[in-house]
Amino acid sequence: VQVGLFVKKYEVIKTIFQNDALPMMPKHKEAEGFAPTNIALCKYWGKRDRDINLPVTSSLSVTLPNKGSTTRLSMAEDGMDHIVLNGEKILDDSQFYLRTVDYLNLFRPRSNWHLNIDITMNIPVAAGLASSACGFASLLFALKNLFQWKLNKRELSILARLGSGSACRSIWNGFVEWHAGIRADGMDSFGEPLYYEWPGLVLGILTVNANIKPISSREAMQRTVDSSVLYTAWPKKVAQDLSIIKQSLRVRSFSLLCGTAESNALAMHATMLSSWPTICYYLPETIALMHQIWDLRRHGLQIFFTQDAGPNLKIFFLEKDEKFVRAHFPTIEVIPLFVK
Ligand code: DP6
Repeated sequence: VQVGLFVKKYEVIKTIFQNDALPMMPKHKEAEGFAPTNIALCKYWGKRDRDINLPVTSSLSVTLPNKGSTTRLSMAEDGMDHIVLNGEKILDDSQFYLRTVDYLNLFRPRSNWHLNIDITMNIPVAAGLASSACGFASLLFALKNLFQWKLNKRELSILARLGSGSACRSIWNGFVEWHAGIRADGMDSFGEPLYYEWPGLVLGILTVNANIKPISSREAMQRTVDSSVLYTAWPKKVAQDLSIIKQSLRVRSFSLLCGTAESNALAMHATMLSSWPTICYYLPETIALMHQIWDLRRHGLQIFFTQDAGPNLKIFFLEKDEKFVRAHFPTIEVIPLFVK
């Protein structure tokens, strides 16, 4: 399975580098790359190809400006890769280490060539803030600088997708659509910026629990595809939501965005709940927060939430209401999305 997986990914690499450019030695001894993280308003949930992360549906996200991951690379001379995340060494039998090294293998010019990978994230890593999205995208940017690849952003998005699906959206700023594509080789499956702006739109992070999530999004989405009776409804729901969300961005309608993005996240979690063994990312505090948000909305506040593969909520609201929102959620972390 591992070999097959590598072959499929390597086919993509060969297409992008047009057969002749790999393997090659890096142009520099050290390099650095930054990529912002992103939050989906219309979710990516389920793959049509697990080896090269091809999604069942398109998805749409917003990038968090300046919030994400910085990866620094330097040559390792002792015969193995070393990974440090926020100052802590990552054990070489952990999932994080194995996934990163697997990805690096795609670009390794020689089997005895190794790297020190130093990753710093300025987002709460445990809060379900798509750390794999910005992590893989920043590693890719750092590799690009190390090898001095001449690739455009679409090609970079395809390469980032090989590390983690949602990473293909972290190549761009602002609102980003990831086109599902239909090709088996995935060359039409990449992120693309939508160029809509929404000054005054603000994201708030409500962390209810900072513990590591019980089941990874990768595993959870696969189990959903394999066992959820509701999953057949999901692609239809996404197609509708995607077009309404784009419309809401075009005309800057908060209520249209609110009703669609929140219901998209709830529908995704409904597919998970109907999987077996069930996948439940809700904690009592998650539900309590939802009721609080619905209550505030009933009283006229423009606010909605979205939730990914973890118990925390991300809320969206307008800058003019920040003081009021902060008063209701004292522990909130506020991130403006379109900095003037
Ligand atoms: C719930 O991109 O982490 O955040 O492709 O297996 O690495 P892999 O999955 P990943 O899944 C993200 C799922 C999500 C929704 C989203 O970001 O669209």
